Amino acid sequence: MNKLVPANDLLIYFDGSDTVAVVSKSKRKFRVKKSYLDRISEWSSSRSNKELDQVDLDLVKNGILTRKSDYYEWEGDRESLFAHFNIKDYSNPPEEIIGKDSIKYKSLEFAKDKIVPEKFRHPNCLGIVELPPSSMNDIPDISLRDVLQSRMTCRDFRGKSCSIEELSTLLHANFQWENKAGLDNLSKNNLSPLNAVFRTAPSATGLQMHEVFVGILNVENTENGIYHYRLESNKQILQRVSNDFSDDILIKATRGQDWAKGLSFVIFLVSDMKKMWVKTRTAKGYGVAYLEAGHISQNVQLVSSALGLNTWITGSFFDKILEKILVIDNFNHLFCPFLVGVGYSHPSRVAEVFC
Ligand SMILES: Cc1cc2nc3c(=O)[nH]c(=O)nc-3n(C[C@H](O)[C@H](O)[C@H](O)COP(=O)(O)O)c2cc1C
Repeated sequence: MNKLVPANDLLIYFDGSDTVAVVSKSKRKFRVKKSYLDRISEWSSSRSNKELDQVDLDLVKNGILTRKSDYYEWEGDRESLFAHFNIKDYSNPPEEIIGKDSIKYKSLEFAKDKIVPEKFRHPNCLGIVELPPSSMNDIPDISLRDVLQSRMTCRDFRGKSCSIEELSTLLHANFQWENKAGLDNLSKNNLSPLNAVFRTAPSATGLQMHEVFVGILNVENTENGIYHYRLESNKQILQRVSNDFSDDILIKATRGQDWAKGLSFVIFLVSDMKKMWVKTRTAKGYGVAYLEAGHISQNVQLVSSALGLNTWITGSFFDKILEKILVIDNFNHLFCPFLVGVGYSHPSRVAEVFC
């Protein structure tokens, strides 16, 4: 039986007057002539029962048509199959890197000729809060073991205010403190620091692609709202970009997770893809942005635990609503993959079961 079908990882799009077919797994791209496109469509709708011709053989050879039995087994939906293959790199390594010296620092070297984008500056400024100075010494001297053991996801917050000093310490430990050894290491190896930043969490690009937005709900002497965090002359600044933030707004954005009430504040991690595009423009970079946010989130949770604060995390929200809340909906290069809610819980309460 000659029955063929379009490969299930085949993606077809239009580029000007060209039709482009991409086989997602191999990432091979073809400009497809109309006769070939018609043939793919015929096989797709089972209208073809004639003998295989040269067009069919070409399409089979390049993985565009396949036998149904060759379908890649996948229980996720079709879009997730495209995401799966596009994020992975199935290409063969070029001969010349095999057996060569390590590719240590190659990534930053690669970026040397690139123009590193300016740090994102939010155009809205409804007010400025300068946070009190903080240092690593403001984190209680408790053991890593105790911190690891105390971190747990909390879904029962008390609505108690936290102090601006606590917020400042949390932000300092995650986003202001700079690992000078990282920069020294670059200069020892004669590498230009570009805009490299070394925080407490590692960074895929070395550029710390994450902007930080803080949603204030219950912080002493601080107006509620959404703030963009930035550093100015090494001072921690919160720039208010919106007044519209409340428990109800957060619960609606996070798909009705009504345990998101009573938080003191929320840290929104916002990926700036302009920084990733300096290094790679592929879908893999997109996946790596999520990974990077995960690393930062873990540190935010651990520092919160050390400060005696509880945390709740989520990546489950309506992106359209969230982007409006953060007022980033007009910036295509920005998106929020993850957030950490921080606040006080009842000391005796443990996290409810969540699945
Ligand atoms: C990537 C990620 C996404 C999560 N999303 C949610 C979420 O949407 N809502 C929620 O209440 N908890 C969420 N959690 C928390 C998990 O439910 C929680 O970590 C898990 O139940 C284990 O509990 P523990 O954090 O107390 O160890 C998420 C955790 C991770 C790592």
